[in-house]
Amino acid sequence: MRLIVAVDGPGGAGKSTVSRLLARRLGAAHLDTGAFYRAATLAVLEAGADPEDEASVLEAIDGRTIDQVDGRTLLDGRDVSKEIRSEEVTGAVSTVSAHPELRRRLVEAQRQWVRRAGDRAVVEGRDIGTVVFPDADLKVFLDADPAVRAARRSGEIGSAVSEGKAALDRRDRLDSTRPTSPLRPAPDAVVIDTTHLGIDEVVDHITGLLTQA
Ligand code: DC
Repeated sequence: MRLIVAVDGPGGAGKSTVSRLLARRLGAAHLDTGAFYRAATLAVLEAGADPEDEASVLEAIDGRTIDQVDGRTLLDGRDVSKEIRSEEVTGAVSTVSAHPELRRRLVEAQRQWVRRAGDRAVVEGRDIGTVVFPDADLKVFLDADPAVRAARRSGEIGSAVSEGKAALDRRDRLDSTRPTSPLRPAPDAVVIDTTHLGIDEVVDHITGLLTQA
């Protein structure tokens, strides 16, 4: 049976951990769309293209395939899960992901991925409830106090992502103010402030919303 849960929100709000656990609990696939934008950014940087220039960005990603298999991100079949968390990629990803034509292509790839997963997936990102799956069965928007989000990011164990508050603020500002698909809750999204909540509490809350739906 089709079940698509959209999980949107800024960095450090808990999207990845919550989405992974929620997917496991629901027996659904988990798609991290941020990893698609990060892999595209890696391709741009590797090609020496200018992240600001849409034509060069499109040329750099032309013919390249981005996929996610068992939680790993693949660029042309190469496992780039670690490289896409580098400081260079994190610093350029908001610029690359602002280009409308790049977004159109990645959104299409994301929809196809979910179709291949049998339309049963927890999909996390910035524009899932507003653009990628406006007809999702449930939309949640996770948010948290900016200082708490930055602390969570820098405390991510085993992850190469160590992003200071200023860098995270900058990324959130770029993601929220871009003209195409800015980060914002869908009108019908349930907004959950995770500042004072543990991961399990958030997952329980979302599971409860699904049984009510
Ligand atoms: O979730 P993340 O921090 O890995 O996402 C990295 C960047 O990708 C984020 O700063 C903006 C972009 N992104 C996007 O524009 N749309 C999405 N659906 C997911 C991520």
